Formats: sequence, C-alpha cells, structure tokens
Amino acid sequence: MAPMTRSRAINSIPGENVAIYYAQRASAGLIITEGTAPSANGIGYARTPGIFTKEQIDGWKKVTKAVHDKGGKIIVQLMHVGRIAHPANMLPGSKIVAPSAVVPKSEMWTDTLGMQPMPQPSELTEEEIRLTVAEFAQAAKNAVEAGFDGVELHGANGYLIEQFINPSTNKRTDAYGGSTENRSRFLIETANAVIAAIGKDKVGVRISPYNTFNDLELYPEITETYKYIAEELNKLDILYLHIIDALANASEEGRLLVAAIRKTFNKTLILAGGYDKARAEQAIEEGRGDLVSFGRFFISNPDLPERFRNNAPLAEGNQQLFYAAGDEGYTDYSSLN
Ligand SMILES: Cc1cc2nc3c(=O)[nH]c(=O)nc-3n(C[C@H](O)[C@H](O)[C@H](O)COP(=O)(O)O)c2cc1C
Repeated sequence: MAPMTRSRAINSIPGENVAIYYAQRASAGLIITEGTAPSANGIGYARTPGIFTKEQIDGWKKVTKAVHDKGGKIIVQLMHVGRIAHPANMLPGSKIVAPSAVVPKSEMWTDTLGMQPMPQPSELTEEEIRLTVAEFAQAAKNAVEAGFDGVELHGANGYLIEQFINPSTNKRTDAYGGSTENRSRFLIETANAVIAAIGKDKVGVRISPYNTFNDLELYPEITETYKYIAEELNKLDILYLHIIDALANASEEGRLLVAAIRKTFNKTLILAGGYDKARAEQAIEEGRGDLVSFGRFFISNPDLPERFRNNAPLAEGNQQLFYAAGDEGYTDYSSLN
C-alpha cells in the first residue's frame, strides 16, 4: 500500500480511527503510511501526523500493534514538507524552511482560513540543515520505538528532500546546491544519519523523477541526478527504493532512466503510480521492479489483494473525502467478507 496522506490526525496525533484504517488494510502485506513529520517544521498540511512527541509516538504504537496483530508490516513515511506549508496548519514555534527562499506558486487548504497562498520560506542555514538531518534520525528512532518495521524517506513529490534535489527550488551556492552531488547531498546525508540511527535494513527511500507537482520545474540534468542518487543509495545498501515511475515512463529518456535505476540499485525496487492489476503483473514479469505499490485503490478497497486474487470488482473512492476530517470516506469502506 502506497503512502497516502489522509488528514485524520487531529493535532498531528494519530488516534483510534487511524489504527482502525490501517488494520483494515493489513492484508496489503506491506503498508507505507501517510507522510509523517519528523519535526514541527516538517508539518505543512492540516491534520497531518508527526512522530516527534510522546503523544504522537503513543498514538502510532496503537497503529503498529493493530496492523501487526493482523499479520501485516508497516513502515512510516518520514515527510518534511519544506516550503509546502502554511502557518495556520503548523504548531506554535515552528517555521517554514526550504533550501532557498523560493515561494511556491500554488495554494493550500487551512481549516481556519480556507485556501491560502503559501508564504515565502526561509532559507535553511548550514547549521539548520544539520539540525534537520538530526531530526530525521531522531524520528527514525522514534519510529522503531513506536513499533514500525522501518521508515521511508519521502524524497518525492516536491517536499523538502526533492526541493534540495531540484534546481528550480535549490538556488544555493554552498555544498548543498549547484552540482548533482551537491543537490543530492541532503538526501544522502539524511539517509546516512537514519541508517546510523536504526540500521540500513529498516530504511527505504521514495523518489519521483520528472515530478512537477508542488511547483517544480523539469531540468536538463534529471537523468544524471537520479542515476547518481541510485548509485549512492545502492552503496548504502538500503532496504528498498520506491520510485513513482508514471511520469518518467511518459518519455523514452525517462524509461531509460528507470531501467538504469533498476540496473544500478541491487536491493528491492518498488514501482508506483497509476498501476492496476494487469499493469503491475506485466511490470513484475518484465523485471522492471520487484514490487508494485497501490495508492487510490486501497482507499476504497481495504481488501485489495483479495479482490485482485478473485478478479472481484473494485469500489470507487469518494475523492471529496480523501483529505476530509472524520470517519466517512475513511474507515467505512467495506471488504468483500
Ligand atoms: C489521497 C492521497 C494522498 C497521498 N499522500 C501521499 C503521501 O503522503 N506521500 C507520498 O509519497 N505520496 C502520496 N500520495 C501519492 C501515492 O502514494 C501514489 O504515488 C499515487 O496515488 C499514485 O498511485 P495510485 O495510482 O496507485 O494511486 C498520495 C495520493 C493520494 C491519492
């Protein structure tokens, strides 16, 4: 099951309903949770969870237990939003940070003010970068304490890690900006710190080459950048690489990149983005990946593997309720049995 923000964590603490939701989906085999902030600065959206306070860790303990009791595995996605944030969604004392002070040209929902433009982020100092890396490492320790089977670093979809990777949001002239190696440095340092904290066998990374979501621009060095990242992550021998390949697969250059990543990265490669049963089986048979993760299908089909097995019809999810508060459209989708 692919990571999906569902915005049900009131005050950023996962409650009983979150445990029910994930337990309902335990037959996925491996669940990757919704994006979860490693620090207060990492929260940007309304009702999204963290894993940096005792209350949050205690909330997650109930979630991991509920999933483990049903025989599933569960990995928490560590997501620092960077500049994709609004103060109305954030806790007191936090601030919006990014590699560079580049304003996202888009709006965001807040529960108190409705849709709002996102403010200018402040550029992280090198000292703040070190602190942010350390926050990821501490969050990974917290995740193990909370009973998670591992952590996934969210390096995709235009959040903090990808804001470093992409030159349209990274204008830095220090060791974290400019060259491919420098733009990848924040991801690689974070991966190293998290590995030192909990071990390489508990660490996955998600990437999304060719992503333009969250106001990112395409750039000439995409192939070079992600080949480098795949090489470096392979050296670190992490558990898996999770690649949203839908956008890359739209071009010949992108398909070649995904194939090159597959060759370079020796551990488990997970593919994601727009897969159905047939396309997933084809991808596995062709050896393009080892696993496929499913997102939206899991929202409305908690027993998705069972439905795939039986070629049973799939229920349609209500998009209006993807990010709504409350249990409707969340824990009320039924299984076949
Ligand atoms: C409601 C919703 C929330 C999502 N939240 C996240 C998230 O927190 N982290 C992430 O990496 N991807 C997130 N995604 C992207 C999914 O993980 C997945 O890549 C995407 O939905 C495409 O796969 P699919 O066609 O199987 O749904 C989200 C998608 C949806 C529909």
